[in-house]
Amino acid sequence: MAGVIGTPVRHSRSPAVVNAAFAAACLDWTYAAFEVAPGRAADAVSAMRTLGLGGLSVTTPHKRDVIASLDELTPAAADLDAVNCIAWAGDRLVGHNTDGDGLVASLRASDGIDPTGARCVVLGAGGAARSVVRALAEAGAADVVVVNRTPEKGEEAAALAGAVGRSGTEADLASADLVINATSVGMGVAPGAEEPLPVDPQRLGAHQVVIDLVYLPLQTPLLLLAEQRGARTVDGLGMLVHQAAIAITLWTGVAPDIATMDAAARA
Ligand SMILES: NC(=O)c1ccc[n+]([C@@H]2O[C@H](COP(=O)([O-])OP(=O)(O)OC[C@H]3O[C@@H](n4cnc5c(N)ncnc54)[C@H](OP(=O)(O)O)[C@@H]3O)[C@@H](O)[C@H]2O)c1
Repeated sequence: MAGVIGTPVRHSRSPAVVNAAFAAACLDWTYAAFEVAPGRAADAVSAMRTLGLGGLSVTTPHKRDVIASLDELTPAAADLDAVNCIAWAGDRLVGHNTDGDGLVASLRASDGIDPTGARCVVLGAGGAARSVVRALAEAGAADVVVVNRTPEKGEEAAALAGAVGRSGTEADLASADLVINATSVGMGVAPGAEEPLPVDPQRLGAHQVVIDLVYLPLQTPLLLLAEQRGARTVDGLGMLVHQAAIAITLWTGVAPDIATMDAAARA
């Protein structure tokens, strides 16, 4: 038994995606969504130990709160001060952060895009952006420029990329190979709607890959306009699928079938 803790979490797509992967791999596992109220993260981790759950995904608002109850953190989780996946290592509970690695794996495996040597602009400096900034640097990006509404938070996020990271402005888009929207702008917007946008689309062009982490709707206003300007576009479901695939491998030791998971997520 594995699951996701968070709130609100009942409408999560993760159970459909992860259970499809378990079934395709003939794994005798199941995955459920557990509504866990704010402030109850420690109780949930304690329940994981008591009930012998095989793994947990962690989402808002518990990504930071679970840390105090874990035995160990990976370097990524420690740097980001946030955990999105808990797995057993023997009898110890280890906190991982797989969001950024999920994006890099998705770009490489599903989209044939390698961030190594790429000039990247990350829009946003929240939890998802921070994970992506760190993972892009680890993947060998040439530079990682963070453009955020609140510049101080942008600087903090850029520091996670070490020597290749810096805070910037929209003007930096001109020289970017990869543009990644990691703000929440565009979430829940009706398909085809023109607004809102995290960046002026006039700054995007045919030489770029534009990636939106927002996956509801799949084609965000940003992706629509980027496509019209000739850019290659990538939606947010690949990252969702690949970070779940990393979690499944950590829990079960089996690498799941990505195509099955992708089909379940899109369905
Ligand atoms: N595809 C996936 O697998 C995946 C995984 C994780 C997250 N996501 C998506 O990524 C998005 C961000 O998630 P998160 O957890 O990082 O959220 P978060 O921690 O709340 O951060 C939100 C970020 O968006 C910026 N922002 C919010 N409203 C804005 C506006 N009107 N104009 C400009 N910037 C604005 C914030 O800027 P300030 O710093 O100035 O407040 C902040 O940098 C969400 O839509 C989430 O669903 C997708």
